[in-house]
Amino acid sequence: PTIHYILKDGSTRSVEAKPGASVMETAIHHNIRGIDAECGGSCSCATCHVYVDEAFLGKLTPPDEMEDELLDGTASARAPNSRLSCQIPVTADLDGLTVRVPETQV
Ligand code: FES
Repeated sequence: PTIHYILKDGSTRSVEAKPGASVMETAIHHNIRGIDAECGGSCSCATCHVYVDEAFLGKLTPPDEMEDELLDGTASARAPNSRLSCQIPVTADLDGLTVRVPETQV
């Protein structure tokens, strides 16, 4: 599946993701700037915050309680389409998923 990352400068990077890897892991693997992921994916840092394209929101499992709490503490303001990218596993169904990197993670 292809994942599109919209970077801070407005440009888009499209990469081929491995199913099963998270949207965060895929970003790190491809050196996408703007996703810090300080905790390495254990849902405790909120520095992997992204804004998910509305068209794909409904395809994702909604945030669990822990993610929901962390989303209240993101460095860039939370929006209705805010998610932690380490909590989004890539599946074939998510081909074309577009996420926007926030202004800051810290
Ligand atoms: Fe830390 Fe996602 S990488 S919460």
